Amino acid sequence: MTSKRVTLNSLRAMYADGTPITVVTAYDATFARLIDEAGVDAILVGDSLGNVIQGHDTTVPVTMDEMVYHTAAVARGASRAHIIADMPFLSYGTGVESAIVNAGRLMKEGNAHSVKLEGGRRFADLIQRMTSIGIPVMGHLGLTPQSVHKFGGFGVRGRGDEAEAIIEDAKVLEEAGAYAIVLEMVPRDLARAVTEAIGIPTIGIGAGNATSGQVLVSYDLLGINDSFKPRFLKRYAELGGAIRGAVGDYVNEVRQRSYPDDEHSFGDS
Ligand code: KIV
Repeated sequence: MTSKRVTLNSLRAMYADGTPITVVTAYDATFARLIDEAGVDAILVGDSLGNVIQGHDTTVPVTMDEMVYHTAAVARGASRAHIIADMPFLSYGTGVESAIVNAGRLMKEGNAHSVKLEGGRRFADLIQRMTSIGIPVMGHLGLTPQSVHKFGGFGVRGRGDEAEAIIEDAKVLEEAGAYAIVLEMVPRDLARAVTEAIGIPTIGIGAGNATSGQVLVSYDLLGINDSFKPRFLKRYAELGGAIRGAVGDYVNEVRQRSYPDDEHSFGDS
C-alpha cells in the first residue's frame, strides 16, 4: 500500500489541530524505509551524521557533498515522510547566493522537500529569499551544534538573559517565512514560551513536552549509540546490545564450524 506523502500542508494541518509532529533522523535508505514504515511524519537527514555515521566529535566537518549523498539515499528509502535535509556548517553562512545553490542541491540532487539551518535573526534575509523562491526552511534555535566551538560545549541554552533572545529569534524566523523551528536543549518553560509566542510548529529535542512536535536521532532512540546518555533521551530499544550479541553469535558459530550448516548451504540439485 502506498500512503500519501506528508507535505508542508499536512504538517500545518497537524499543527492547526494540535496533533504532535513526529520527526526522526535517518542517513541511509534502509533505516529511512523502516522509519517511514513506522509512521513518522518527517525524516531529518541531520548533520548529526557527522557524529553517528562518520565518528566525528562534532558536526562541523560534514560537507555539502556528504549531505547530498545521504539525503539522496534517504529519499530512495522513504515514500511517505516529509524529508528535511540539514544544511551543513558554512554551507549557508558565507553568502545568500551560495546558500541558495547549496539548498538547491539538497532538493534537486538529494530530493529533500525542505532544508534546515541553524541560527536566528542573522539569517532572516536568507530565509526570506529562500522561501520566496520555493525552498521551504526549518529553523533551529537553542543549542545549535554547528556553533559548539563558539558555545564551548553542548550544554543547555536559554537560561537567564538568553531566553528572551531565543523568543525574539523565533519570532524573526517566523516572520522571515520559516515553516517550523527546532528547539534543542532549552528549558521546558522557555520551549513553551516560544511555542506560545509564534504561529508555526516548534519541534523539540531536550526541550520538554510543550512543543508542537519532537525529534530524536534514530541511533540514540534505538540504543545503537549506547554510550550516549543525555538526560532528555529515552531509548525505545537496545539495538547496540542486540547487534553485539548477534554478531558475537555469528563469530562463535563460524569458529565452531556450526555455521553454515546444511540448511544454509547449496546441494547438487
Ligand atoms: O543533526 C541533527 O540530527 C539535528 C537534530 C538533533 C535536530 O539537527
